[in-house]
Amino acid sequence: MKAIVLVGGFGTRLRPVTYAVPKQLIPIAGKPLLYHVLDLLPPETEEVVLATGYKADLLDAYVRAHPVRWPVRTVPEAEPLGTGGGMRNASAGISDPFFLLNSDVVASADLTAMRAAHLARTGIGTMALYEVADTKPFGVAALAAGDRITAFVEKPDAKDAPSHWINAGLAIWSRSVIDEVPGGRAVSFESEIVPGLLARGVYGFRLTGYWDDAGTPERLLRCQRLLFDDHRGGAGGVPKGAFGSGPVAAMTGARAAGASFGRYVTLGFDSVIEPGAHVEDSVLMDGVRVDRDASVLGSILGPRVRVRPGREVRGQTLGEGAEV
Ligand code: GTP
Repeated sequence: MKAIVLVGGFGTRLRPVTYAVPKQLIPIAGKPLLYHVLDLLPPETEEVVLATGYKADLLDAYVRAHPVRWPVRTVPEAEPLGTGGGMRNASAGISDPFFLLNSDVVASADLTAMRAAHLARTGIGTMALYEVADTKPFGVAALAAGDRITAFVEKPDAKDAPSHWINAGLAIWSRSVIDEVPGGRAVSFESEIVPGLLARGVYGFRLTGYWDDAGTPERLLRCQRLLFDDHRGGAGGVPKGAFGSGPVAAMTGARAAGASFGRYVTLGFDSVIEPGAHVEDSVLMDGVRVDRDASVLGSILGPRVRVRPGREVRGQTLGEGAEV
């Protein structure tokens, strides 16, 4: 099977970091969010097609420079086409059925098992679902016998939610669903298309373990904690010459001798943490500099942010080049 991965969103909730870098290239637990999503694909996946739009050039350059085990092709949109339009735009040569993945979720999902469940049924779609207490920001499925989805409601008020099982952003669809997406305009696949597909047989695949959507700063940092706790953030520990608990995932060129670390930190390429500085529960992107005796807690620092000596950055999301 092939996979279309939707990578074209603006990531507005992660601004100002996403003014410079698409959400999918923000590194968490040692590598870009996108690469954690790709890790979920079955080993025998034939090809990955990235439906790009916002910052398409940066995504294209990154995947060329950092290849994965599968061939990866990017198909950019001239203007945002939404999740449905993006899928349609990227669908030339896609397999039947195919994976359709959001690029901003982390999960312990077994997509090989989901494929087996899909192929064992006669429906046209299988959507991974995850049970949450607060369904409001998500699409919610009503389930009948055999986990057939009988209704699908986007972002309902709590009183209107048909269940606590939400769309986890990982699905398998028959090629024929692409024909249902009108061309020439932006289309939300979940709101405009999925409800009309249910009569043709769409099933839920209930995820256990962990899942989260990295769309906001708080959730992105929670996703990083989940990945580290699942040992998907490298060897753990702290960088050479540093102190503290970790885990810290230090990308190439990061230096932190004499600094101290709490739990859950990613240090981007060529970042520098000076002696006496302290970092925990944070993402520091490429070229960030944290001067001596400064501290960074629960924050996302965009490329080349500088934290001056003795300053404390707590619970902030700072855009490229900011100085505090
Ligand atoms: P926000 O602006 O913060 O809501 O983030 P977002 O733009 O990523 O939107 P959202 O989280 O709802 O997107 C869900 C998934 O669909 C993500 O993987 C997005 O990259 C992707 N996506 C959203 N809009 C488009 C689009 O117009 N084209 C393509 N190709 N993908 C999209």
